[in-house]
Amino acid sequence: MGIEHRDFATLILPDRKDPVQIPVIEDTMGGRAIDIHALRKETGYITYDPGFVNTGSCDSSICYVNGEEGILRYRGYDIEDLVENCDFVEVAYLLIKGELPDAKERKRYADLLNKESLLHYDMQSFFRGYPFDAHPMAVLAAMSASLSAFYPEMDDIDPELSVDFAVTRLVSKIRTITAFQYRHMKGEDFVNPSYKLSYCENFLNMMFKSPVFEYQINPLHVKALNQLLILHADHEQNCSTTAVRLIASSGANLYASISAGLAALWGFKHGGANQAVIEMLEEAYENQWSVDDIIAKAKDKNSTFRLMGFGHRVYKTFDPRAKIAKKLCKEVLSEGGEHDPLLDIALELEERATQDPYFIERGLYPNVDFYTGLTFRRMGIPTNMFTAMFAIGRLPGWIAHWLEWKKDPFGKIGRPRQVYVGPTQRKVPPLNER
Ligand code: ACO
Repeated sequence: MGIEHRDFATLILPDRKDPVQIPVIEDTMGGRAIDIHALRKETGYITYDPGFVNTGSCDSSICYVNGEEGILRYRGYDIEDLVENCDFVEVAYLLIKGELPDAKERKRYADLLNKESLLHYDMQSFFRGYPFDAHPMAVLAAMSASLSAFYPEMDDIDPELSVDFAVTRLVSKIRTITAFQYRHMKGEDFVNPSYKLSYCENFLNMMFKSPVFEYQINPLHVKALNQLLILHADHEQNCSTTAVRLIASSGANLYASISAGLAALWGFKHGGANQAVIEMLEEAYENQWSVDDIIAKAKDKNSTFRLMGFGHRVYKTFDPRAKIAKKLCKEVLSEGGEHDPLLDIALELEERATQDPYFIERGLYPNVDFYTGLTFRRMGIPTNMFTAMFAIGRLPGWIAHWLEWKKDPFGKIGRPRQVYVGPTQRKVPPLNER
């Protein structure tokens, strides 16, 4: 492995006389890890860590999360700083390329994104094959994999250049595909992207432009979209990113690997939580559940109900993204329009849950999904598209991890071990004796 060992941990094993010295490595922020990658070879033992709660699967320079202090950084920049001072395209560039673009590079990249934003005519016809109520994540995962059929040049002799194009194409087209899926759900004609509009303006325009009324792109919604996409852009080795890296490790192409990430993100314990939050708040509102009722249900161990948008595998304090998302949500919801009673429920839920010993003892605080859905809803994005919105944001992060994996000199196919608990050897009995 690439990191220098500074220290050793001593492991005493039941069947060995001599203690085993295991290297300890340190990350740039002072975090320490016991490097067991040679453990089985040297001792015959494996480690057991279901859910990978203590397992570092790689070294990475893309994203830093400190769950105890509520810190999130992309390539060393605080999330608060990026949200305040960059747009999504700049952050996507930062994640993928490693540095923020200068003005010239920023323009070149935006132009390239525009150039790649159209969807192949034959791919447009795919939408007709899906039911109108197909979940957008099903469509996105299938469409992402399909891109490898249309753009197989990833395997070209000039891998650097072809990767660069493939990456930009994907960032650009995933937004077009998501907007087209929305038009398909509504039974309306597609609206093509325009070179005159920015990345986020284009998305809103492709979604909402209409031939029967004048659509004005709302600048506050453009700002909100930029910020929300930035908030979602990376989060180190989460479930979907790990899926992308694992698929990449088999040598699969970029589009196929991202398709796996999309499938993983869809689950309600991961990116599907933003949809689940709104569904929970709507159910509470329609059935007139009090906040006490909701909290009691969430604490009831005989119920499978969980307070959606609360809790996180890594954050045991406030998710820094939730703080930004809350501020943004209040700003967007306070601009004209009707008062949203779901916001009142959400605010009260947050206040009560964060003072309740059940949530405090378990380190359960609002995560990024708690407030984002309310903002998307006000922007006119339907609930079943929330996870797809998350996916557009997360894409640069997945790509950055895919690229990082490709350059990893260790580069081994991901292949965990297991602790086998099945039967020992058996003989197949004849059919009439089974
Ligand atoms: N509501 C009520 N209780 C909860 C919640 C919740 N949202 N989350 C965790 N708990 C409880 C569990 O019941 C468990 O209690 P116990 O110790 O008495 O058995 C304890 O807290 C630990 O929970 P785990 O599920 O073991 O924690 P884990 O780290 O594995 O899971 C997860 C984290 C999946 C995010 C969980 O908190 C959850 O299901 N939250 C709701 C879904 C959600 O918001 N997901 C979005 C996560 S952010 C993202 O993916 C972008």
